[in-house]
Amino acid sequence: MHAPYTPERKIELVPAKPNEADARLIMEWRNDPVSLEASFGQKPKVWEAFWEEFRSDYFLENCPHPLFARIDDSNAAFLRFRPLAVEDGDEPRATQCDISINIAPEFRGRGLAVPVLEQASKYLQAQGVYTVIAEVKSHNFASKKAFLKAGYAFRGVQSKKGVSVMVYQKNLSVTS
Ligand SMILES: CC(C)(COP(=O)(O)OP(=O)(O)OC[C@H]1O[C@@H](n2cnc3c(N)ncnc32)[C@H](O)[C@@H]1OP(=O)(O)O)[C@@H](O)C(=O)NCCC(=O)NCCS
Repeated sequence: MHAPYTPERKIELVPAKPNEADARLIMEWRNDPVSLEASFGQKPKVWEAFWEEFRSDYFLENCPHPLFARIDDSNAAFLRFRPLAVEDGDEPRATQCDISINIAPEFRGRGLAVPVLEQASKYLQAQGVYTVIAEVKSHNFASKKAFLKAGYAFRGVQSKKGVSVMVYQKNLSVTS
């Protein structure tokens, strides 16, 4: 059992690698029942297809690469970013991205989401990202609360794949 997060415990963001070990861990967390319920494609991932998807879609040039958040030398969360277009039909730009967070099942409910999201904001700002968007299913109360507490503003409700989605946005000031 992991202890609740306290501010003196250091959270470190480290790049995920395009290797099999990281892909397997990410897939395992993604297939956890709570994560499946929170995701838009609710089917569990299967290895061969996920391994292909991981290598082709997770490490794009126009978007920050995925990260693990580590605490006490354990991988405690996974963060993935996707490039976003300003308007529908525009090219995605490196200055704005979508964020998704998955806290490792054994680390959930310990107050980690907000400090991990805050650290991710600093990281993205340093990478030159101005705007971060999060899409959250309306019944995902822990996620909605975490994004608001981490400084995201509610932007409205959209329908995605027939599911009602709450959109949150955080603007990051540009570092000179
Ligand atoms: C959603 C998720 C990121 C939240 O992270 P977490 O570390 O478990 O959450 P925390 O312990 O930091 O709690 C965040 C807040 O939500 C509250 N919360 C937790 N579970 C809750 C629930 N079931 N209902 C309502 N609020 C809840 C907590 O009390 C806390 O609020 P507080 O600070 O006012 O006490 C994590 O549970 C997760 O990865 N879930 C699976 C994947 C997922 O849903 N990702 C987000 C998709 S956008």
